[in-house]
Amino acid sequence: MHPHMKIGIFDSGLGGLIVMSNLVATLPHYDYIYLGDTAHVPYGNRTQAEIYNFTEKAVQHLFDAGCQIIIIACNTASAEALRKIQQEYLPAHFPDRRVLGVLIPAAEVAVKQSSTQIIGVLATSSTVESGAFVREILKISPQADIIQQAAPDLVPLIESGNFDEAQQFLADYLAPFTENIDTLILGCTHYPILKRQIQEILGADIHVVSQDECMGEKLHSYLENHPELSEKLSKDSTHLFYVTELTETSVNLAQKLFNNPVPLQKITLE
Ligand code: DGL
Repeated sequence: MHPHMKIGIFDSGLGGLIVMSNLVATLPHYDYIYLGDTAHVPYGNRTQAEIYNFTEKAVQHLFDAGCQIIIIACNTASAEALRKIQQEYLPAHFPDRRVLGVLIPAAEVAVKQSSTQIIGVLATSSTVESGAFVREILKISPQADIIQQAAPDLVPLIESGNFDEAQQFLADYLAPFTENIDTLILGCTHYPILKRQIQEILGADIHVVSQDECMGEKLHSYLENHPELSEKLSKDSTHLFYVTELTETSVNLAQKLFNNPVPLQKITLE
């Protein structure tokens, strides 16, 4: 049969568009559907049960829309919901489809780049509290020393387009890292928008791992290793963008984050 399946990308809001632009740049031929749960962003200060519930609905919607594989381009949802989705939801409902997260790819890049294995993680409160980054880094590098810092003010400001105001919080949030680490994971898909300012504060000697630079390559090798999935994917280079709440700010912000016009369509998640 003619391949007709798509790649889904899910984020709590619009920050995942930064990751999507890297996926599209690396793998331009595939067809993509983006879904941002803008009605419920930010996820970062919510409970695990809420985050799981929203994520499962979004995943269901993307599968119903014809996605073969979904990237959860949200660290908070990857930290709080991905394991249960992979271990319980997929086998019960969509055993031949796949859902991948963004934590392990970033952890792998960080461990590879770090000489000291003293690694920093800047993320939302709920990602930090989940301990998921610590767990994944230690699996690859059991000797690693991991310093985490929650940055609860950044996502709400970035989602409302206030990048300058978000920037003012950086010096405080980055203070625990400057003397200690040699590699920092930007553990939230919204933070790459402030990458230049973060690098300036940290100085050139600290590597900054940004998911908008590594996810395209990671998906590329995943698809190469899984021809049974990639052969089902259609290649018409189409992009659909769904959000659960549509405002004028979201239209402008989406365009800025994706570097291209983004025709957002409002949907309701059942
Ligand atoms: N982009 C999400 C992440 O990577 C933002 C989390 C939020 O909605 O607070 O964690």
